[in-house]
Amino acid sequence: MKLKRLNIALPKGRLGEKVYEMLETLGYGCPGLTDGSRKLIFEDDGGITRYFWVKPSDVDIYVERGAADIGVVGRDILLEHNPDVYELLDLGFGKCRMCVAGMAGYEANPNRTLRVATKFPNIARSYYAAKSREIEIIKLSGSIELAPILGMSDVIVDIVETGSTLKENNLEVKETVCDISARLIVNKAAYRFKNDEVRELVEKINTVYKNKVEK
Ligand code: PRP
Repeated sequence: MKLKRLNIALPKGRLGEKVYEMLETLGYGCPGLTDGSRKLIFEDDGGITRYFWVKPSDVDIYVERGAADIGVVGRDILLEHNPDVYELLDLGFGKCRMCVAGMAGYEANPNRTLRVATKFPNIARSYYAAKSREIEIIKLSGSIELAPILGMSDVIVDIVETGSTLKENNLEVKETVCDISARLIVNKAAYRFKNDEVRELVEKINTVYKNKVEK
């Protein structure tokens, strides 16, 4: 039986490149994909895959809408957007933490509304709702660390990987919200109509991981 072509959304950047490296070793390579050109779509000649380079925070949108059958996305994006997709695998890449951070030594007044700067308003809201803590969200798109330094917020809810950004800006982790890593997601219809293709891919990834563990 001829397998159908899989459309794969890869997050632009280091994580996507790492994931592609893994997929290439599993036989899902696509010439030119890592040449550093500005091209966004790549197809292999064998009809196995078609890749799209997409903005990391948009991967789930392509997969949910079926423009891509599968994609790789950080758990932070899944928690924030709550897309209607299946989450198939924790790839174990791109490990980091979602944290509450603030100026070193700063302690928030528990009787006042906490001003929280973040790129992840939904994650921040549900985290503090579970603690019955009243907050005001200040939604930013980047350089979140600036907000408490400039007195615009009391804390931030943001991703911490190596911790250098916090350290270099005299900030520290106050609380850990959750652990993050890269996840393989699949469009719900594609999971049915391209089940053989998706399962084969998942099996190959699992085998690689098994081998890695056994080594
Ligand atoms: C992310 C995150 C932190 C930083 C954490 O920012 O928002 O700022 O990485 O990494 P570290 O713990 O290894 O220092 P990103 O690089 O995505 O840039 P941004 O400021 O545009 O969000």
